[in-house]
Amino acid sequence: MKSVAKNFAKKTTMVLFLCKELNIFTTHVNTVEKDLFTKVEEKMETRNKIDQILESTDPVANKLKSLCNLLKNSIPHFHWVGFYFVHGNRKELKLSEFAGKPTEHTIIPFGKGICGQVAVSNQNFVVQDVSEQDNYISCGIDVKSEIVVPIFVNGRNIGQIDIDSHDVAPFTQEDEMLLEYVCERVSQLDLNPILESSASEV
Ligand code: SME
Repeated sequence: MKSVAKNFAKKTTMVLFLCKELNIFTTHVNTVEKDLFTKVEEKMETRNKIDQILESTDPVANKLKSLCNLLKNSIPHFHWVGFYFVHGNRKELKLSEFAGKPTEHTIIPFGKGICGQVAVSNQNFVVQDVSEQDNYISCGIDVKSEIVVPIFVNGRNIGQIDIDSHDVAPFTQEDEMLLEYVCERVSQLDLNPILESSASEV
């Protein structure tokens, strides 16, 4: 009889232990699920705001400025956000709208720095650690990484969005996809006022 009681106690302890473990596991899954849900919601909100800006009746320069502000303020590792466009018929880029610290690099020759290389390569350039790049134009000691995504109109590389971050290796594939979305949508705007104003200063 004693051994039956002992066995029962042992099984009860085991069941209680498993219940506790299951509870910890469920709580963990709930937290992960909640975090994922919040992240998805935040991303959808950012996309909606991007669409709202692009679909507003604002002049194109204001739209670009609002996009810079939105991206800088909603993505914590985006510390500087700016648009560069081809400077008339010169082989250089000219800074357009931006959010963050003003930079002295308002003109960048094709091939120079991360931006200039993208003007030539026509490819996204994700630099998770700028200290590993020789062909890099520094915009300050606090910048640790950079991502540049080109903008194409009728197959021509006419500019780019440039992001600087103060963190090492912060950029994800989702960041790249979001920026590609922004560039795709920006390429559908009437960019003539931007491109013309840059050309008239040649
Ligand atoms: N770091 C860039 C220069 C532009 S700033 O980041 C604003 C480059 O290497 O092209």
